[in-house]
Amino acid sequence: MRVLALVGSPRVDGNTDMLVEELLQGARASNHDCQKLYLYHYDILPCLDCRRCKQGSFVCSLKDEMDELYPLLEAADLIVFGTPVYWYGPTGKMKLFIDRLRPFIASKRLKGKAGLLVSPSEEGAEGCRPLVEMFRSSLDYLEMEFAGSLLAKAYEKGEVAASHDDMQRAYRLGTVLQSLL
Ligand SMILES: Cc1cc2nc3c(=O)[nH]c(=O)nc-3n(C[C@H](O)[C@H](O)[C@H](O)COP(=O)(O)O)c2cc1C
Repeated sequence: MRVLALVGSPRVDGNTDMLVEELLQGARASNHDCQKLYLYHYDILPCLDCRRCKQGSFVCSLKDEMDELYPLLEAADLIVFGTPVYWYGPTGKMKLFIDRLRPFIASKRLKGKAGLLVSPSEEGAEGCRPLVEMFRSSLDYLEMEFAGSLLAKAYEKGEVAASHDDMQRAYRLGTVLQSLL
């Protein structure tokens, strides 16, 4: 299975990155083909609601580095959306990215793929409800499968590494991805 993991935190080696990496370690041990990308390394313009992606070949009219990400999304079987909680939602970069998934509404080119949410936050699971709901509804709208979420309580950079339970949950989740499809 092809796994595309997107880290939507600006902190390389931060909590999101560590949880995603641990999940991918489990996935690689289970022979999945995994790729991890940092969204903050990509230039992603905001959707302008021009609606050109709703016609013809369903292509976004904006020219930026989403052009590199679109084919990777289409090639993946499972997409990991990694984002810390920022004001009860995703980071701004992850939101820019989600907004740019509009070409996949009419084209249905992500239909049937699975999506997983990985999200650390200061408050932990309780404060993630709006974020989880946003991802569940958005993936539903894209006719993807919301395969679940891995939520962890962490605040300082890299703090999550000290939580054996959270790291173990991440690794184990990586080993059972096939059963989520
Ligand atoms: C702008 C901003 C907003 C935040 N908002 C929340 C929040 O609403 N709830 C929460 O629990 N933590 C919040 N946090 C804390 C982060 O979710 C937390 O530090 C997280 O572990 C960062 O993950 P990272 O290391 O992957 O960047 C916020 C942090 C920042 C920088």
